[in-house]
Amino acid sequence: MIFKQLFDPETWTYTYFIADTDAKEAVLIDPVKSHIDEYIALLDEHGLKLKYTLETHVHADHITASGLLRQKLGAETGVGQLCGAIGADLQLQDGDVLEFGNGEKIKVIATPGHTQGSVSFLWRDRVFTGDSLFIGGCGRTDFQSGDAGALYDCITRKLFTLPDETLVYPGHDYQQRWVSSIMQERITNPRLAGKTREEFIEIMNNLNLPRPRLIDEAVPANRYCGLDEDERQDAVARRDSTRPERAMISAQDLVSAAKERITEIGIDKARQLLNQSGVAVVDVREESEYAAGHIDNALPIPRGVLEFKVGATPELADKSKTVVVYCRTGGRAALAAQTLQNLGYSNVLSIAGGYEAWQKSL
Ligand SMILES: [Fe+2]
Repeated sequence: MIFKQLFDPETWTYTYFIADTDAKEAVLIDPVKSHIDEYIALLDEHGLKLKYTLETHVHADHITASGLLRQKLGAETGVGQLCGAIGADLQLQDGDVLEFGNGEKIKVIATPGHTQGSVSFLWRDRVFTGDSLFIGGCGRTDFQSGDAGALYDCITRKLFTLPDETLVYPGHDYQQRWVSSIMQERITNPRLAGKTREEFIEIMNNLNLPRPRLIDEAVPANRYCGLDEDERQDAVARRDSTRPERAMISAQDLVSAAKERITEIGIDKARQLLNQSGVAVVDVREESEYAAGHIDNALPIPRGVLEFKVGATPELADKSKTVVVYCRTGGRAALAAQTLQNLGYSNVLSIAGGYEAWQKSL
């Protein structure tokens, strides 16, 4: 076996490389886009095939290499299903097990709180905790649907109940520490050791951290596995022609599931609503799509930044207001409508068929 802990000094991110050298299969956890050549060289050096790239969450501080690694090497990308990463092959759920090499198993543990969709990965005696649990700390909970109470619950009930000697490999460390253990964190982590849930929430709500430098760039890109818009077009074309049936939940399943939970309306109904006052219309496509044409008075809020832009949008301050969302054909808007419902909006409607249907009706 090979196990390597790689470090990106730009963003203090740890990437983990695990390989079964007999079966010649490897897995990367939280790869960073700017290091892709390094990963490929490492794989080549040992004659390994990359089976999976796994993300602990949609990162706000760096761009993932997973999309490009899929394009170049065919590795499947896996992200927690509540991350809204519609470009990922595998929408991971708590308890999923990913196998590689000769019987190696990586178990998915849902650890929401830093983000709603955060997961940790358990492999043998080590757990990769992403930003859910750091050495002597934990990830912030003040954006991307973060929730301090949920983080406390999953750390204390799921991570701290792993065997004491389980090694904790975090997603970042800002002091060049590399590894800890469950026992060490349970006893010494200053945010958690001896703290009640209420005390923990109080600490997390008063961190007053600056906004991550790369958030507006990284989060939307990472929902598409780190691909920029040009790279995405290639990826869609390639995937449509080569994609095999998958056992786990696909992005398409995610859209179908969202559509069951939201309300879609036809073009006539949409037009009627948009003529009324007090109705907000939100375009959740990318900025370039909006710039090429959009419904009059639509607010441009790309799906990737929806969660943290809604709070700063005065037109969306009233959560009981009717909000009509649309994208190109209805998929992203369904996910966005579901997100808005989760955020407490009580009357969200998605335009069936999206902007394409709207244009055809003109
Ligand atoms: Fe993060």
